[in-house]
Order: sequence, then C-alpha cells, then structure tokens
Amino acid sequence: FKVPHPVNEPVKGYAPGSPERASLAAKVKEMAAQKIEIPLVIGGKEIRTGKLAKAVMPHDHGHVLADVHLGGEAEVKLAVEAAAKAKAEWAAMPWEARVSIFLKAADLLAGPYRDVLNAATMLGQSKTCHQAEIDSACELVDFYRFNSFYYEQILREQPESMPGMWNRLEHRPLEGFVFAVTPFNFTSIAGNLPTAPALVGNTVVWKPASTALYSAHFLMKLWKEAGLPDGVINMVPGSGASIGNPVLASPQLAGIHFTGSTSVFNGMWRTVGQNLESYKGYPRLVGETGGKDFIVAHPSADPVALTVAIVRGAFEYQGQKCSAASRAYVPSNLWPKVKEMLVPMVEGIKMGDIQDFSNFMGAVIDANSFRDQKNAIDEAKASNDASILVGGQYDDSKGYFVRPTVIQAKTPGYRTMCDELFGPVMTLHVYDETKWEETLDLVDSTSPYALTGAVFAQDRYAVQQAITHLRNCAGNFYVNDKPTGAVVGQQPFGGARASGTNDKAGSMLNLLRWISARTIKETF
Ligand code: SER
Repeated sequence: FKVPHPVNEPVKGYAPGSPERASLAAKVKEMAAQKIEIPLVIGGKEIRTGKLAKAVMPHDHGHVLADVHLGGEAEVKLAVEAAAKAKAEWAAMPWEARVSIFLKAADLLAGPYRDVLNAATMLGQSKTCHQAEIDSACELVDFYRFNSFYYEQILREQPESMPGMWNRLEHRPLEGFVFAVTPFNFTSIAGNLPTAPALVGNTVVWKPASTALYSAHFLMKLWKEAGLPDGVINMVPGSGASIGNPVLASPQLAGIHFTGSTSVFNGMWRTVGQNLESYKGYPRLVGETGGKDFIVAHPSADPVALTVAIVRGAFEYQGQKCSAASRAYVPSNLWPKVKEMLVPMVEGIKMGDIQDFSNFMGAVIDANSFRDQKNAIDEAKASNDASILVGGQYDDSKGYFVRPTVIQAKTPGYRTMCDELFGPVMTLHVYDETKWEETLDLVDSTSPYALTGAVFAQDRYAVQQAITHLRNCAGNFYVNDKPTGAVVGQQPFGGARASGTNDKAGSMLNLLRWISARTIKETF
C-alpha cells in the first residue's frame, strides 16, 4: 500500500445558477429548519447530561440550531477511560488501516458530506459559502490526505543498519491520551486537531469551542461513517474550566493540541507545570494562539494590490481568521491613492444573512466579540489619537453585525495597533515614506505575536530587507499577497512568540509531535 500523492481539493465556485449552489442552498435551508439535539460522544456512545446550551446562528441569534448537552468532571472521567480502553487496539492497528479511515473521511467530505459540513459551518459560524468551502470542505480534505501522505514518509525514515545488526525506529504514539481543544473559526482546525494525533495511533479527548458545537457534531458523524473505532476521539463539550481542569489533572495526559487564545494556553502550560510530577511523561504542548497580523507596505508597493489585500485580509470571515490582517502600515506617498480606493471598497461590502449567497460578510461569532469590536470603535470615535476612516456602525438587534471598519491611528502605538481584536475592525497607520526602516522596527516591536504578516513592495531590495528584518515576526510571511489563506501542503501554518509553538498544522513537523519513537537495536 502506498498513500496516493495528495493534490489540493479544488475549490467549488458556487456560481449563481450552478447546480452546486442549488444543492448547498437547499441543504442550508433544510438544516436551518430542523432543530437538533447534540449529545456528547464517549466511547462511541451518545451521552445526554441534560445540562443544555443552545447553538444559535450568529447572524440571527434568536434562531436555535441545536440543544447541546454539556459535560463536566464526570464525563471527562468517562472520556479519559474510553480513550484508555480504545488505545491498545488502535495503536496496534496496521498504520495503513488507520490511514485508510482518514482517506475515506476525505473522500466522504469531498463528496456526500461536503454540503452538510459547509451548511453547518455557514449556519453555526456565519461563514459565507466561499469561506465555508475553503475551510470545512477543501482545507479539511487536504489535512486528511496530506497528513496521511506525510505519515507514510515519517514511517519510511529509518536509521542505518550494519552487518550483524538491525536498527530500526518504532514510531510509537504517546503514552496516555491527547487533549484536543479547538476554536470556532475553522471547522478544518476542529477537524484536524483531534485527528492528527489519532492518525499516528493516539486516542483523544476533544473539547470543541462552545460557539462551534453545531459543526463539531457533524464532524463526529463523518468520522464514524469513515470507520473510526469507538473511543478513539471522544467529544466532550462544556465550559473551558469544567472540561480543562479535570483533563489536566489526569495522570494520563500525554499531550495537548490547542488552538485558541494566548491566555488560555498560558494557563494550561502553567497547570501542566504544576502537575508535572503526576504525569508519566512530559506532556507535549502544541498550541496555535493569538495574533496581531500585519501588512507593511514599502513606498514602491503597487497600491491596487495593497488595497485589495487590506480588504480581503482584514474582512473575509469578518476578520476572524487567526491570520487576518489587523494592522497595516502605509507609506505617505501611497496613501492618497490607497485611501481613494479603500474607502468605497469597504463601504461597498455587502453584509448580512449567509443564506443570501451574494453577501461578502456575515456576523461576528457572539455577544462577547460584538462587545469587543463595539468598544474599539467607540474608543476610536472618542480618541484624539485615532479616527474612523470607514465603517464604525454596529447592530446586534438580530445578529451580531459589525460593519467592516478601518481605524486610522495617528500614533503607531495606538491600542488597536497592538491588541488583538479578532473581528472586522482593523487599524492602519500612515508613516512618513522616508522612514521605511524605522517602520520595520515598529512592526517588530508593536506586538508580542508572530503569526502572519505581509510585505508589499516592488523594490526587490525592500522585499529582502523585510524578509530579513521581520524574520521572527511571523511564522507565515507573505510577499505581495494578503496574510490569510494558507493552503495545506503549500504554506504550512503556524507562528511563534505569543502566537504559539509553531508546530505547523498539516505538516510533518506537526505529526512528529504526536510520535514518541523507540530505537530498537537487534544483533544476530
Ligand atoms: N489557515 C488559515 C489561514 O491561513 C488560518 O487558520 O487563513
């Protein structure tokens, strides 16, 4: 058996009048009309605790998609037991058999499950059809196919043997279970964080984001249909503390695969440190955390490409991608032209219910996010150091809608040039065109994060200066392109500093974190 060389799943266009649009629209309508119940799934069994939360549509928060059963300490205990019970058989399974389950999941997702997962992501996370398609269809299919391919390459990497001696590496999974904690903003991340450790033989306790439980439910269904044995991935929704605390207190914790906020990951890291002696080994802590992703333009930049990148980078999926451009540095020589294009482009953005496929944006995820964006907008309106260039309106009467907003900061240290906002409010600073090198210093020193960033320049020397000078400022660095939209197999994704451990999702580097190799020397 040889894993087929993966090719990125082609992105469907959902053009007006196309059969694919009609099919997805019908699925969205059908699913929106049915309220469902979402149980926990532990050891393959559905568990109903009766402690309920509601999964709502962010763009119509009165519309309940599902009643979700939440877990706590007792369910964590069951999930840890189920993961332990499933482990031996799962880890002993031939690697080809494990791989085949995820290759089948990829085929199901590329085929009959595509509409279901895309519709769930659109309804539950307020993604437009295009944003859902590149996430819950293409990126997730790619994760399964590329991870399978990389796993085979890892297994084939073996040490030298000598006459009379056979040396080999046994790629064991970690001893214990892996805790996967996933974010709301990408169904693909939710679908990858539990499965990457599982692929190489680990079993998993999974806590999906409280604001993305609807699509999480359909991921569980997908894995089951693909043949994933009971107990390999155990889904336990619940509040961060009620799930996280008992999980981290378990002596069987072997690793954490996390995407979420820097502060939550820092807290986990501290707790793991405190509990260290109670574990069998050193848990592997893999996290993708916050960001304050930048676009910096040189005076030689193409103003059209720059403006388009600011709009797409900052506002696609309401600025809620980990990679979203949330601060920009524009040189004074380009500013009149950029401003002239930027303002009408942002004003023209169509926003609203995702069931209207012509909208470019939906709503932000929940009331907390709405409040953060509103505060930043109100603060800029009242500030002497900043003004609203475009946008600045918000309305949460039906859905959590915030108009795409550009704050112009007079001072490069203005609060929203530095703090993460995770929404459709970006901040821009116009710098003196003679101060390019000082501006590169500012990009570096303004934020503690280092996830993504982009430079725009036509001058090759300036490109090289930015690449060199900003070496540690972004794990994903883009030249003359927006800082979002990494493709599995093409731009391995992840950042360092306060943005995480940079264990590139969907790459060999990530899979290696879930393997604890044993060297075996045998003489004869
Ligand atoms: N992979 C996504 C992007 O590059 C972010 O998680 O936009």
